[in-house]
Amino acid sequence: MSSQLATQHKKLERNVTLLSVFAFIAVAIGGIVEIAPLFWIDSTVEKVEGVRPYTPLEQAGRDIYVREGCYTCHSQMIRPFRDEVERYGHYSLAAESMYDHPFQWGSKRTGPDLARVGGRYSDEWHVQHLKDPRSVVPESIMPTYAFLAETELDLKGIDGKLGALRKVGVPYTETMIENAEADLKQQASPDGDAADLAKRYPKSQVRDFDGDPSKLTEMDAVVAYLQMLGTLVDTNAAAAQERRR
Ligand code: HEC
Repeated sequence: MSSQLATQHKKLERNVTLLSVFAFIAVAIGGIVEIAPLFWIDSTVEKVEGVRPYTPLEQAGRDIYVREGCYTCHSQMIRPFRDEVERYGHYSLAAESMYDHPFQWGSKRTGPDLARVGGRYSDEWHVQHLKDPRSVVPESIMPTYAFLAETELDLKGIDGKLGALRKVGVPYTETMIENAEADLKQQASPDGDAADLAKRYPKSQVRDFDGDPSKLTEMDAVVAYLQMLGTLVDTNAAAAQERRR
């Protein structure tokens, strides 16, 4: 029996075609075992409590952030190193950018990381800093973005934007898309009833962000976006959950 097996094996080893076929099968099994599960699991990123899609106003601000190239100087990913954590706060979790299209992790820091800048400064500080960075940080080399305060926010197509994001996997519901424009206006106004907005987007901050309630500007959107960065997840609870696992 064993000598028969040896002859068969010899045949296999000496026939290039046959050897290639079997080698391919062996490698394919390994490949399938690694790749196939990716088609059945819902997500490769573990969900973390608190992470939600951006509100329409935050998303509009984010689009301006990308348009203006803020990412060329600012990263949005705190690395799990002591110096970073001490300066910027809890290291970034994968889930915190799971709805980001495109992501803003960045690779270049001319300015500081912004992943947890939300709530660190007042709205007034941000407005002043964006209008004239040197008026608050004399040594700053950041460009001025004063025009954001004068430019009215273009509301056209905000529902289409959410719809496009839904196509790539952001869980916007039909109601969220239908109410996109109303939600956007509601978030930037201190008047009115924001209960529905809060239900759809927990922890959404509602107020006039640019200090000029008479118009809805790009400044409103950018400041709303900056003020929510890193505020959705209770990082202490998430870290404790990670340790328990
Ligand atoms: C040419 C590089 C550059 C660009 C482009 C840039 N920044 Fe900055 N930014 C800086 C530098 C440098 C600092 C640190 C000095 C300061 O606070 O002004 C900074 C600081 C900041 C801070 C304060 C962060 C902190 O933790 O103190 C915020 C917020 C900010 N930038 C937002 C933006 C936004 C929004 C945009 C786009 C509209 C932008 N920056 C574009 C260089 C840049």
